[in-house]
Amino acid sequence: MTLTRPSDQDIVVVGATGDLAARKLLPALYNLEVEGLLPEHGDVIGVAPMDWSDERFRNHAEEAIRGFSRTRFEARRFAAFAARLRFVPVGPDGDLRPLRAAAGRPERLLYLAVPSSAFTALAQSLGAAGLAAGTKLVIEKPFGHDVTSATRLNAVLHEVLPEDRIYRIDHYLGKETVQNLLVFRFGNSVFERVWNRDAIARVEITVAESLGVEHRGAFYEETGAIRDIVQNHMFQLLAVTAMEPPISFAAEAIRNEKVKVLEALHPVEPGAVVRGQYASGSVDGEAVPGYRDEEGVAAGSEVETFAAMRLHIDSWRWAGVPFLLRTGKRLAVRDTRVVLSFRDAPLHLFRAVGLHALDSNRLVIRVQPDEGISITFVAKRPGPEVTTQPVEMDFSYEGSFKASTPEAYERLLHDALSGDHTLFIREDEVERGWQVVQPVLDRPSPVKMYPAGSWGPAAADRIARPGRWHDGPSGEPRTSFRQRS
Ligand code: BG6
Repeated sequence: MTLTRPSDQDIVVVGATGDLAARKLLPALYNLEVEGLLPEHGDVIGVAPMDWSDERFRNHAEEAIRGFSRTRFEARRFAAFAARLRFVPVGPDGDLRPLRAAAGRPERLLYLAVPSSAFTALAQSLGAAGLAAGTKLVIEKPFGHDVTSATRLNAVLHEVLPEDRIYRIDHYLGKETVQNLLVFRFGNSVFERVWNRDAIARVEITVAESLGVEHRGAFYEETGAIRDIVQNHMFQLLAVTAMEPPISFAAEAIRNEKVKVLEALHPVEPGAVVRGQYASGSVDGEAVPGYRDEEGVAAGSEVETFAAMRLHIDSWRWAGVPFLLRTGKRLAVRDTRVVLSFRDAPLHLFRAVGLHALDSNRLVIRVQPDEGISITFVAKRPGPEVTTQPVEMDFSYEGSFKASTPEAYERLLHDALSGDHTLFIREDEVERGWQVVQPVLDRPSPVKMYPAGSWGPAAADRIARPGRWHDGPSGEPRTSFRQRS
């Protein structure tokens, strides 16, 4: 499918002076300009409660693009982009009326790149400013704080805009590897035949980060790993991994199947969740402080920076197959992967020579970094004796495709500009995600400490039993073979 220019419209970024705009949105819009994928006519209007001129905003955008764009900054290309840039200061109350005169085109994409506490007031202000007609609204995560607040936020948004004008963003769906999971599953018949409880013993999803909370301590105190990563990014990875084949590649067909997976997920048992928090330690050889010593974090904080949980999906395809989820900050490495472990061979012919295979066939989808897919199986080591060894067949993006992959935000912004909802979260999807985690939000177990640079608290190993987590580059495979005498 070749991408085309979206129809004429303005792009309004509310929160244009913030971190997300600088790191992701402005570089993504610049790259869309470079690719010829912005509307032919349309301004990019920054909005924030700052007394900035257009000029100041252009300088800010230039700095952001120089610092964070995946393609090199080019003055000629930036000049074309800068000609679109304008800035509209608003009051601290977020009253959007000043935008009315500036966003002159009948259609616009309005991106709320602000803390979620501001969503309700801004949505209402959009209606009060008479700007709802012609607006497509992109709204960042976390969408609400729990089931009640997410349901309330949906109701507020629907007072102003219909569902088909709302784009709830989860940037994981914009990642190439996540989209490729759909192609991998439904474009190849060989895998889909074994993609079920008959062949698969367990599924692990890991989102490991080596970074800490950085300068976002105050935000994180209100959020924690379950709200920040599990309820959205991890549930999207799980839904795409576990969904049934859609009847077509149309947005609603895909979203219907994802919702069915979430509906079939049992709400999590608080006893089947381990919450952790990083203490001081060392990452990449550098000493780093513990979470409680980060700026903006309470001294006795009980907020989790790590969560591991065991989930079950009540469906014909997945009944009895545990889905093990694990995420954390300040872990040993940055590594996001989905690992499907296949059932053991029914008969161990090689037991007689002292070997017993355990979890020997695995399919590993490396979401990031080192994007790719590998299959692990057992091979005979060359030589007169019968000894076996796990080996890998590997596909890597870098090796197979030379072009640099677009950033998730580029794809998602272009889709929203074009009115394509496929990679955005529907109202029922987001509410169901909250319902699944609500029991642990209501009854959280105490956090267990882990040293920064480790793989989380030892208690998390209990979630993975029988067997152990597959830890990625540094520890893979941790338990794939057991020697028997
Ligand atoms: C964001 C979370 O949604 O995703 C951050 O708020 C997290 O805490 C980030 O670091 C991870 O995104 P990525 O694309 O680097 O995996």
